[in-house]
Amino acid sequence: MLEGKRGYPYQKAMEILVRVGEIYGASRLIPVASVHMPGSSVVVAGEAGTRFVERMAREGGKFAAFTTLNPAAGDLDNWQALGFLEEDIALQSHLTNAYKVMGGVPCHTCTPYLLGNIPRLGEHVAWGESSAIAFVNSVLGARTNREGGPTALAAALAGRVPLYGYHLAENRRGQILVRVQTRLAGVLDYGCLGYYVGTIAQDRVPVFTGIEPSCTLEELKTLAAALASSGAVALFHVVGVTPEAATVEQAFGGREVEDVLDFGAREAAQTRARLNKSGVREAGLVVIGCPHCSLKEVAEVASFMAGKKVSGNAGLWVLTSVAVKRLAERCGYAEIIEAAGGHIVCDTCTVLGAMKGVIERQGLTVISTNSAKLAHYVPGQYGLEVHYGSTAQCLAAAVKGVWD
Ligand code: F3S
Repeated sequence: MLEGKRGYPYQKAMEILVRVGEIYGASRLIPVASVHMPGSSVVVAGEAGTRFVERMAREGGKFAAFTTLNPAAGDLDNWQALGFLEEDIALQSHLTNAYKVMGGVPCHTCTPYLLGNIPRLGEHVAWGESSAIAFVNSVLGARTNREGGPTALAAALAGRVPLYGYHLAENRRGQILVRVQTRLAGVLDYGCLGYYVGTIAQDRVPVFTGIEPSCTLEELKTLAAALASSGAVALFHVVGVTPEAATVEQAFGGREVEDVLDFGAREAAQTRARLNKSGVREAGLVVIGCPHCSLKEVAEVASFMAGKKVSGNAGLWVLTSVAVKRLAERCGYAEIIEAAGGHIVCDTCTVLGAMKGVIERQGLTVISTNSAKLAHYVPGQYGLEVHYGSTAQCLAAAVKGVWD
């Protein structure tokens, strides 16, 4: 492949992988079971990235590994009604089609582990998207580095990655002990925990104690997303919950404990206040589903909104994949949410979506969300105000039109 015998896409892919391997001192390449492609939105890939991916497809590139696509620049079926701009969606369809030609699955979600890209414990994969990386490494115990667009594309084509970083057992051991000293319940609490710890941990591996074994998939995906937004955490362990941490000793594997942090009610309240500092009253666009909602989360929204109406001054977006939306339609959840005036928005999110048109058309100045990750990114990215609270608080704000 490196010599160009299989053509340009594979030669380019191998050049990237070999160079990365040299930089990190990898001894060899290893096969990957799957890829999750971070550069799947034109907001990230841009015009130049799109042309590059199109060239790979045109010149005969085919993915050697099962590859799912991260969120796109807009809802591909319903973009017009939601206010996305035609030029953004036109460019997006070029990018999506190029990935599809090479074998990518256009699920356009950041929770591909809800849709069949579910690596097993110890399997090597090449995933991008910070929340998904932290989830797959930590909760599923598969092994990935933090892949970017070019390296994930190269890994998908070559079916391989260099052996370094989190692929090696010695780099997966804990570095920081986090003692959770308050009872956590719901995604708000897990978001606060992740956001607080991510700020201090940065790219180190935290080990949590004090988290109930009954914590849910939704809470763990929220924890993963928050850790990877205030910090660059790609792997964490929860003692008694995640597969490489049956005990504290196993989680650290003999590595020195660099720091000990305590997280209690005070730290939770401080984090919440830090993310929820808007003084404006209006709720604006209420966004649930960062990371993309599971069916259970869509059901929770439907159960709250049944018989209620979204205020004329507010909006409600429930972000998920097209597959979960189809199931929500079958279950009757979609009908309830739409009857209330909300939208189940697929394929995209308010960070990776081309939101300029939506913001202008809706005259949007504020977003309310239950996601620490979204609350972190939205002010800097779009200059919008943000309210951060529980799912119930956000939905109540959508109904009242104001944030209490
Ligand atoms: Fe997913 Fe977008 Fe949030 S990619 S984790 S919904 S910022």
